Amino acid sequence: MKKDLRLGFIGFGNMARAMADGLLLKGAVKPEQIYVCAKHYEKLLAGAEARGIHPCRNARETAEQADMVIVAVKPYLVAEVLEPIREILREKTVISVAAGYPFERYEQVLLPGTHHLSTIPNTPVSVGEGIFVCEQKHSLTAEEMEAFEEIFSRIGLVQMVPTEQLGIAGDLSGCGPAFASMFIEALADGAVLHGLPRELAYRLASQMIVGTGKMQQASGSHPGAMKDAVCSPGGTTIVGVAALEEHGFRSAVISALDAIQKKKL
Ligand SMILES: NC(=O)c1ccc[n+]([C@@H]2O[C@H](COP(=O)([O-])OP(=O)(O)OC[C@H]3O[C@@H](n4cnc5c(N)ncnc54)[C@H](OP(=O)(O)O)[C@@H]3O)[C@@H](O)[C@H]2O)c1
Repeated sequence: MKKDLRLGFIGFGNMARAMADGLLLKGAVKPEQIYVCAKHYEKLLAGAEARGIHPCRNARETAEQADMVIVAVKPYLVAEVLEPIREILREKTVISVAAGYPFERYEQVLLPGTHHLSTIPNTPVSVGEGIFVCEQKHSLTAEEMEAFEEIFSRIGLVQMVPTEQLGIAGDLSGCGPAFASMFIEALADGAVLHGLPRELAYRLASQMIVGTGKMQQASGSHPGAMKDAVCSPGGTTIVGVAALEEHGFRSAVISALDAIQKKKL
């Protein structure tokens, strides 16, 4: 990998900031290796200054400065923002984080021969525990792919998927933090109802989620078996499981992902 590879974020909103913060937190890159632009330059300056990264006036300047360009504007702006700088992008590694923008759609926007990869990250990249769902179909060289993995695996699981699974995998990992946060909040509400201080309830609920996820990853256990392991016959946990089922917990979660797919039709 090229030493001190320069990253250029086109768009520095929620997702780009989450990625930059994770990369800096984990020391995957130094602040001076990051170039960013946004629509409103004055607003961008404060965020760039706080992180010690380079603010750029526009997408052209960002792309010129960078080796690897991360496209992080809203999907409806991708074509409009990239078309004027397509010549520059042909010489770069282009990484997209825009939802609903797989390889073939980029082929309509970028010049032939441009090296590009479509990914869907999630916001926990900001603490180095995220996910990058990546489309298997891409045009990066082996060396560029290695550079991407070397940098971004520091802040999340890099998971390749076939094109037809990119949407649903991205929804599970990208929308999931909202659902998981609702679960944390709901658990805390239940505990507060019975006298636990709210801050303590959040701390316990969040660590419980972290620990359960890590345990599943470490053991590879079936989640049902992990549930069974906590449910003693006639015990308290199974009473809670029964109450969740009575209120449609499992089907509510399934419906959430299903509703997202229907919205995209
Ligand atoms: N948020 C998530 O959890 C998530 C998950 C997966 C994928 N994504 C993808 O990430 C991308 C960004 O989403 P977001 O949530 O970060 O949106 P966001 O917070 O609205 O950020 C969008 C950024 O684009 C900038 N921008 C707008 N027009 C521009 C232009 N002409 N040139 C340069 N920058 C421009 C905006 O600048 P101003 O701030 O100055 O307006 C802002 O910094 C989307 O494509 C989305 O699909 C997001």
